[in-house]
Amino acid sequence: MRTHTCGGVNTAHLDETVTFCGWVHRRRDHGGVIFIDLRDHTGLVQVVFDPDREQIFGLAEQVRNEFVLRIEGRVRNRPEGTINPEMATGEVEVLGTDLEILNRAATPAFQLDDTDVSEEHRLRYRYLDLRRPEMQDRIRLRSKVVSRLRNTLEGMGFIDIETPMLTRATPEGARDYLVPSRTHPGSFFALPQSPQLFKQLLMMGGMDRYYQIARCFRDEDLRADRQPEFSQLDIEMAFIDEDTITGSMEELMRELFKEILAVDLGATFPRMTYAQAMHDYGSDKPDLRIPLKLVELSDIMAEVEFKVFAAPASSEDGRVAALCLPGGNTLSRKEIDGYTEFVSRYGAKGLAYIKCNDVAAGRDGLQSPIVKMLPDEVLVKVIERTGAKDGDLIFFGADKARVVEDALGALRVQLGHDRELLTCEWAPLWVVDFPMFEYDEGGKRWQALHHPFTAPQARTIEAWQAELDDNPGKCLSRAYDMVINGTELGGGSIRIHQQAMQQKALEVLGIGDNEARDKFGFLLDALQYGAPPHGGIAFGIDRLIMLMSGAKSIRDVMAFPKTQSASCLLTSAPSEVSEAQWRELSLRPRARQPSAPVDDK
Ligand code: AMO
Ligand code: AMP
Repeated sequence: MRTHTCGGVNTAHLDETVTFCGWVHRRRDHGGVIFIDLRDHTGLVQVVFDPDREQIFGLAEQVRNEFVLRIEGRVRNRPEGTINPEMATGEVEVLGTDLEILNRAATPAFQLDDTDVSEEHRLRYRYLDLRRPEMQDRIRLRSKVVSRLRNTLEGMGFIDIETPMLTRATPEGARDYLVPSRTHPGSFFALPQSPQLFKQLLMMGGMDRYYQIARCFRDEDLRADRQPEFSQLDIEMAFIDEDTITGSMEELMRELFKEILAVDLGATFPRMTYAQAMHDYGSDKPDLRIPLKLVELSDIMAEVEFKVFAAPASSEDGRVAALCLPGGNTLSRKEIDGYTEFVSRYGAKGLAYIKCNDVAAGRDGLQSPIVKMLPDEVLVKVIERTGAKDGDLIFFGADKARVVEDALGALRVQLGHDRELLTCEWAPLWVVDFPMFEYDEGGKRWQALHHPFTAPQARTIEAWQAELDDNPGKCLSRAYDMVINGTELGGGSIRIHQQAMQQKALEVLGIGDNEARDKFGFLLDALQYGAPPHGGIAFGIDRLIMLMSGAKSIRDVMAFPKTQSASCLLTSAPSEVSEAQWRELSLRPRARQPSAPVDDK
């Protein structure tokens, strides 16, 4: 249908007759001459229709935005003074000699170049939204990245293997999406939260190096970087240790960023223990572009009269820490109130602060509602530890350690962006030495921090038992996360490959022998038949593209994402099914539910 694309027409084609197809981006009537900007996936080109070709001119008069056209014309230089340097095709225009309306379009639900369209509207008319150049760019980037990843991995000896979508529940910690079985009344498949167990079984099946761009399904609370259905670059390798896998995955990402973005991620990604990350950054995914660190104050606050500080400072699970903001003295009362409200979302009960007007003047040089409650020697130590200078502002957090870390960790990132403190564009790192288990206060039991198949650092069951007897909370695992710019891009671990170890791990999680057999019998069996040492990782493809494209949400890098309340506005899924289908699946609807909640943003 076409000889050229819209964006591909340039001065090399002067005087040539070209044919191209696309959508009407804009139509302007200029005193008897009609200009049409025609758009396709490569860009825009300006076409001019003169009234002397009556019939074609008549058609051109009819077209409206988003009509689909096929145009034939002759390429010519734009007249002096009308050259548009902003446009790739801005030096030329096409004099239309033929025009065919391939399809008409109703008035678009929104103007494509309107930047103020609600996301709800964009999702409902996603096919229009996808025509916008930035969506085109992101989706094309995604394809390029996936293709590059595949090439590199195949070069490294990985093979692509598909794993089932209809399977058993996989414990990644979210709720499952269930699919009722017609042939087994009352039984359900679960959609995979990840291919975790299958990829381990592939290692036991001698496949050595596996990868897959895998769809994963998790029914969990959604945020800007979470979707109920998302894609992982899933990887597993046999006969490896942490250094081999982290080394090769670093190489993969380094190569990808260099090829696609011309970005150098640096020689070796720094490694940071989980404990250090929480201590210094209040997060297990620290954004190292921001130079601020949490400063420990628990030891010097234990004896002060100010109970807000003294109580958590002297309690075992409490913590008092500070964050010093260079130049923060300029923050207004209103801004500080804003940050106080911000940290309250993380459970903080307040946000004490000290403005450092004149550090050399001691107490008199400090402006704050709390200095009167702190003795001189404590104030001196606070200034010393935080390294505060004249003009700085020190924020304080005092509470359970987890609350202080969540609140100050998030505040650190917010301040970094608000005050433009970022020191570089890309900051990758590995976070290692994660705890094996965390205690779930609600359920009164231990939970796996990564998943129950992650190997402990203890190499023998005896050594591990000794650690468990002491305190399961202190056991470290062989898990690792790759973090870039404060986003957890990927996570993985060396796995347990011995049956007794696996049974022990399930036992700590309160999964008794019978339940273990029922849920993971196939894995426990497979572990008996010569399972090689193995490990792997999974990267969030959507998060990766979000980072690489600078998008704010993973919804912007998925062609057809779901809303925050896990529905598809385009197709109105999920939807009700007929009574016949209920019956066929041996299910019965409960009393009719009220209609689904209206989607938020
Ligand atoms: P994990 O649960 O850490 O590990 O997931 C790996 C990576 O997948 C991405 N991710 C998500 N992306 C979008 N929406 C979501 N809801 C979502 N949940 C996770 C993140 C995350 O780092 N089987 C293990 C991996 C392994 O051990 O090899 C697993 O799934 O980028
Ligand atoms: P109050 O004594 O409650 O008036 O608090 C004095 C100052 O301490 C205020 O600036 C509060 O915002 C702050 N504050 C109160 N509780 C905490 C807390 N848990 N952590 C940090 N600051 C707090």
